Amino acid sequence: MTTNKQVLILPGDGIGPEVCNEAEKVLNCVNSSHNLGISIEKSGVGGVAYEEFGKPLPDETLKAAKEADAILLGAVGGPEWDNLDYNLRPERALLGLRSELDLFANLRPAILSKYLCDSSSLKTEKVEDLDLLIIRELTGGIYFGEPRGTSDSGDSAFNTMIYSKKEIERIGRVAFETAQKRNKTLCSVDKANVLEVSVLWREVITDISKDYPDVELSHMLVDNAAMQLVKDPKQFDVVVTGNLFGDILSDIAAMLTGSIGMLPSASLNSKNKGMYEPVHGSAPDISGKGLANPIAAILSVAMMLKYSFDLNEVSSSIENSIQEVLSEGYRTYDLEGALDKKLSTSEMGNKIVEKLK
Ligand code: IPM
Ligand code: MN
Repeated sequence: MTTNKQVLILPGDGIGPEVCNEAEKVLNCVNSSHNLGISIEKSGVGGVAYEEFGKPLPDETLKAAKEADAILLGAVGGPEWDNLDYNLRPERALLGLRSELDLFANLRPAILSKYLCDSSSLKTEKVEDLDLLIIRELTGGIYFGEPRGTSDSGDSAFNTMIYSKKEIERIGRVAFETAQKRNKTLCSVDKANVLEVSVLWREVITDISKDYPDVELSHMLVDNAAMQLVKDPKQFDVVVTGNLFGDILSDIAAMLTGSIGMLPSASLNSKNKGMYEPVHGSAPDISGKGLANPIAAILSVAMMLKYSFDLNEVSSSIENSIQEVLSEGYRTYDLEGALDKKLSTSEMGNKIVEKLK
């Protein structure tokens, strides 16, 4: 089953390299066992790239990203780069990759493993079997809107939350099509009681809903959605929202699953080319200590195989191996569990590979 696909790994900063290392082990394992013919390359991104090349997204890295069939990114950022000029900060690399590759659809699943109910911040009955998907628009909204800047006097600063009908429609269609493959319900989140941009958002989403009569559409204001997510998260299946609201809501959803160390994400363009990332950041406080949970990065590889390469079975085999390891009680340090079953980052990676074999 040779695919000839090229994967670019961008380990980045903090715990990024540690978790990418384990994800690469898993990718190598399925690559050889299923004879996938995937080739792997690596480039620098974020703070480490700034140190070496003077910018967080070097031209070479961007070129390699454009050529690759899929990208696995670890994490970017760290306190040593916090005072850099806005355009040189590691986070700019992430935003640059998203917009240069037109990765407008960000899929952030929040799934609670039945073995990790004790790790959730909510009571078991509220979160048991939780499986929701936040679809966040990723290349528009206030993150990229113009004008933006600081006034000449420096006394004020401004950003623009802007969406075109076209941008809303394309993320809306991804959301409806995804909902059709799941529970056929979609909740669109906005702030239409205050913002014109949200009024347009609601209009466009309502308009296109006519093309998906089998999907039940609802609308919710973002403040209420934040509350409902911690009150009764199982009422949601697929949620679609703009860039800023999606950033915030996906962190809330992440915490319901016990640890942000468990959550993968996919950022896709219209051809399903994707950048896959663990939702957690660079976690500089634990970096280099073997304390990081590699499962989010490994699940990101599983998402890559599914969404970009159409290898559903291989993808499921990775997910199943992770569940098996968790069912035996093994945990990384971010997860509740018995002390004698705690594994370091690389031990967890090895255990998952062991199950895969
Ligand atoms: C995320 C992150 C990024 C974002 C930052 C690091 C730019 O928080 O992917 O959720 O705000 O989109
Ligand atoms: Mn975020």
